[in-house]
Amino acid sequence: MEFNVGVIPGDGIGPEIVREATKVLDKTGEKYNVRFNYEQILMGGCSIDKLGIPLSDEAIKTAKKKDAVLLGAIGGDANTSPWYKLEPSLRPEAGLLKIRKELNLFVNMRPAYLFDELKDACPLRENVCGEGFDLVIMRELTGGLYFGERKTVEVEGKRVATDTLTYNEDEIRRIAIKSFEIAQKRRKKVTSVDKANVLDSSRLWRAVVDEVAEDFPDVSLSHMLVDNCAMQLVRDPGQFDVILTENMFGDILSDEASMCTGSIGMLSSASFNDSKAGLYEPSHGSAPDIAGKDMANPIATILSASMMLKYSFDMEEASNNIDEAVRQVLRDGYRTVDIMPHEGKGELKQVGCRQMGDLIAERI
Ligand code: IPM
Ligand code: MG
Repeated sequence: MEFNVGVIPGDGIGPEIVREATKVLDKTGEKYNVRFNYEQILMGGCSIDKLGIPLSDEAIKTAKKKDAVLLGAIGGDANTSPWYKLEPSLRPEAGLLKIRKELNLFVNMRPAYLFDELKDACPLRENVCGEGFDLVIMRELTGGLYFGERKTVEVEGKRVATDTLTYNEDEIRRIAIKSFEIAQKRRKKVTSVDKANVLDSSRLWRAVVDEVAEDFPDVSLSHMLVDNCAMQLVRDPGQFDVILTENMFGDILSDEASMCTGSIGMLSSASFNDSKAGLYEPSHGSAPDIAGKDMANPIATILSASMMLKYSFDMEEASNNIDEAVRQVLRDGYRTVDIMPHEGKGELKQVGCRQMGDLIAERI
């Protein structure tokens, strides 16, 4: 069997973490007799440098033809990179938003769980994270503030900027359905997060989610205001199973949840439309400050590749094999710098990006 994978290395640490993820994929392919054919796709700052735009039509066409797409990270340092002197629609992030929209990736799934081995890296106190946690954020990805009308104009001599938050009921229903389906395969608990005490879009969100819940009587649903959810995540993350929320809230809450796991360098993510193809990427950014220094943690990207096997290629066993190899490497005491405790290093061994990839591949 073979699969065609579009690969977007992107900017910053993107190329090095993607290199390690394809290394692990190839090793897994050997074991399970599957071939992965990769084709590189330009997106982000590297595309701007070459073509003047962050994502070309040709790149979109290539991505659409693939069985799945693996993405590293895009973007640079907003204070120093020339990419951020360009108008917003030509910056690296515009490429990311465009590919999400063009591929209709309305579901963004971001799991956050605490590896036992990394409890020391978790910033929460032992009595808060003691039992560990295992939650997944289901973030709506093609609507809301990110894609609403926006403008900056001058009114009576003052600059006025406007962004609009719009959802129609179909956009809410389809992400809600996906979230309930995922919950059915987990602990059967959905927490829908909104700001219904202020926003109309949230009141519609709540009403539609309630309607969808009627078709999933085996899943329990509760609603939570987003400010409360931000607090609950650091007060008692173990209470959550599936968090369902709109685009902007999901962006913020997923960074918060990931930090609770010890390092954003550990968290994978997957984005889907209604087909089997998906876009898989780490939840973190391009970390330009450490790019090319062999310091990046490739685990989030490797775990994203594992999600690709599970959700796009129906290779559940191979996916579990990768997850287990990651766990084994952590158990064996290997750490990239971001997950190395500042004190009490004990027997732990610090490794770079490349070696971390090798160690995981060896354990497949
Ligand atoms: C993310 C990122 C992006 C987002 C940025 C880079 C546009 O923060 O994937 O969470 O806000 O969606
Ligand atoms: Mg984000």
